[in-house]
Amino acid sequence: MTTLTAAAPIAASQPVADTGSLLQIHPVEFEQNFSQRPFLIGHRLSTHPLFQIERLLELSQRLPESCIEYNAGNIPVSIDSALTPRNGLTPEETIRRIAECKSWMVLKYVERDPQYSQLLEECLTEIRPYSEPITPGMMHPQAFIFVTSPGSVTPYHIDPEHNFLLQIRGSKEVRMLDGRDRGIVSEIDLENFYSDRGRNLRLNPEHEQAGWTYHLQPGQGLHFPVTYPHWVKNGNEVSISFSITFRTPDLDRRRSLYQSNAEIRARGGNPWPVGKSRLRDSLIYTSSRIRRKLASLLSKPEQHACGGRKSCGT
Ligand SMILES: [Fe+2]
Repeated sequence: MTTLTAAAPIAASQPVADTGSLLQIHPVEFEQNFSQRPFLIGHRLSTHPLFQIERLLELSQRLPESCIEYNAGNIPVSIDSALTPRNGLTPEETIRRIAECKSWMVLKYVERDPQYSQLLEECLTEIRPYSEPITPGMMHPQAFIFVTSPGSVTPYHIDPEHNFLLQIRGSKEVRMLDGRDRGIVSEIDLENFYSDRGRNLRLNPEHEQAGWTYHLQPGQGLHFPVTYPHWVKNGNEVSISFSITFRTPDLDRRRSLYQSNAEIRARGGNPWPVGKSRLRDSLIYTSSRIRRKLASLLSKPEQHACGGRKSCGT
């Protein structure tokens, strides 16, 4: 079995102007599409030392076990996350043998490491001037690194954060569907997701050809609007991707509204869809905040094992 020890620097597929910035953002494209449609940006991280294999190995040894998720990568597009098979290797072995072990790995919350934290902050500092006029209040910066084998699949799922996936090495095919379409992501799907009942969705065969397709190359980054469903398939080489994410206060409100609707449905009700009535949403949100405030006064806050903030991660 061959062992992967280091990644050769790979040139960006698109030249990035030497402006000193890490990201290449088109202001008009950002303004027209952020949070509504996927769009590409450029970056210059493909040869960054933090994404060399030896540095990633070091990171995997420092991160707590709860911050590393990995499994077999030769799985179908639609699969229950509880049924996803493991690959039988340790995280270190998985990275070293990634070229041949047919695996998918994510290193979560890598901002726990000061160097990755600084890089994340530098990237988000370049995004903030464009995102603030659209969705103000950037907070909870988090970053994830995906290390995946040739041909491996990330199943069809949704994520809770504003996300830019920066392709560092290798290529990926990303299929993304419109998360605003309730025929694609239903109110019940969102209620389940925000109630922490899993992020994987079942892909309706009717929707297999819907949405957008991107073939991401090193030097390119893709914006994923919040809860837009997607699945990802690697190209024929090892892939390394850096996911930079953040939240905004409107997402906390959204989570709270869907959790409230899930509770109403669990009691036998048929709640109005979120967004159908501003007045109703405001009343529901205010009452849930009051209930949460009272509950927090009576009990200790929940601490997530990894980073103190609960996240669905990838
Ligand atoms: Fe994702």
